Amino acid sequence: MPGYVVVGMQWGDEGKGKIVDYLTEQVDMVVRHQGGNNAGHTVVAGGHTTILHLLPSGILHPGRVCVIGNGTVLDPAVLVNEIEGVAEAGHQLEGRLFISDCAHIIMPYHKRCEGAQERFRGNAKIGTTGRGIGPAYADKADRLGIRFGDLIDFECFKTKLEKVLAYKNALLQDVLNEEPFNFQDVVDEYARYAERLRPFVADGVSIVHDALRSNRRIMFEGAQGAMLDIDHGTFPYVTSSTTVAGGVCAGAGVGPSVVKGVVAIVKAYTTRVGAGPFPTEEIGEVGERLRNEGQEFGATTGRPRRCGWLDLVQLRRAVLLNGATTIVLTKADVLSAFDVIRICTGYESEEGRIEMFPSQTSELERVTPVYEEWPGWGVDLAECTSWDELPPNAKAYFQRIEELAGVPVSIVSVGPGREQTILRSDPFSH
Ligand code: GDP
Ligand code: IMO
Ligand code: MG
Repeated sequence: MPGYVVVGMQWGDEGKGKIVDYLTEQVDMVVRHQGGNNAGHTVVAGGHTTILHLLPSGILHPGRVCVIGNGTVLDPAVLVNEIEGVAEAGHQLEGRLFISDCAHIIMPYHKRCEGAQERFRGNAKIGTTGRGIGPAYADKADRLGIRFGDLIDFECFKTKLEKVLAYKNALLQDVLNEEPFNFQDVVDEYARYAERLRPFVADGVSIVHDALRSNRRIMFEGAQGAMLDIDHGTFPYVTSSTTVAGGVCAGAGVGPSVVKGVVAIVKAYTTRVGAGPFPTEEIGEVGERLRNEGQEFGATTGRPRRCGWLDLVQLRRAVLLNGATTIVLTKADVLSAFDVIRICTGYESEEGRIEMFPSQTSELERVTPVYEEWPGWGVDLAECTSWDELPPNAKAYFQRIEELAGVPVSIVSVGPGREQTILRSDPFSH
């Protein structure tokens, strides 16, 4: 009963959507287990670009079962929209898309509260996606959350909403100086979602375990990245879920023994959206070039992504946090534009050289990256179709990453398209 985790190793947007779509050929089921529509996963196949926020990136493959697990938080408006978009593009979803009845629902007050929180934070704001993710997870921990199981039992939904809304409206009006919500308006809106989504809501755990019992292969699709993890990321500049591979267990309802491999998605340079420390950030010409060459604009909010060189100090910590068994290196083609490519191999701080990525954000803000320089390869990697065709300088750069990270590179991605993928070894065999 093999399960494989695909996980982002940096601050998100590593190209997880592309690689999950590519690897779906090899699996029977794809499961999202954390996050919500803060994620934006881009799949480019057959000349079409699809940005998925909630549906697993295996959804474009006919016959593959897709599950949205209990550990996610879902905005039903976004979900309905996405289901309709994918259905209109000709994909059949009934009977192969399942939404866990234990997944929590993002409510309108989550988004409004988040907007107010960010305002109160002033210049210490996190720069969230504004999708209500943090407040929805907070309500889950606070036992105020409403779940999909409640939504499809609509009387139960109304009873819960009535109580929670009284509390949220008091908070919005009396503390946050915000407009309250009208109970009946919310009921009417969510009744429509309940009707549309009812056919898809199920016990996610049963579906996943039925598949495991039948010896089906499952791929768990991570959202965000290791440095946005609620415990292990650059707190408080993080998201509100467990983004590291271990989150699969609680977020999908499987034991650790199910996981046979952890496919670590690493962008060949680094990007970050929103605020927070980023030691290798390039704010000048190099950053601008990385952003333009890599088209680094958010798939969810359209914000320009902050860009910088690959950071092996950060990556080594992510390898430990995730138990990475193999690396998929993405957007390698973007570096083709550079004559000199830098890799950060260590940090300098007031106490001297640091090899371990600091756990404290305040310490991370004070480090200076130490780089080694590698010569560019002078040809566009997007033209390469096999490992053997790669220019020697590119191979040397990839091998240096393997050496520093201590994890083998099995795939190099050289463009957004499904076919722009160089398979060196089977990532599920490591
Ligand atoms: P995700 O959130 O990890 O799924 O990544 P995003 O979809 O948010 O961002 C990755 C962006 O890079 C998308 O626009 C992809 O189409 C694109 N992309 C993925 N892999 C490659 C690659 O190897 N080369 C290039 N040039 N673009 C890529
Ligand atoms: P994918 O799955 C990049 C960032 C936000 C913000 C912080 C908290 O596409 O890689 P949140 O709305 O989650 O409370 O915002 O996390 N963030 C992401 N950055 N990719 C993502 O997802 C992200 N999801 C959240 O920009 O800094
Ligand atoms: Mg993204």
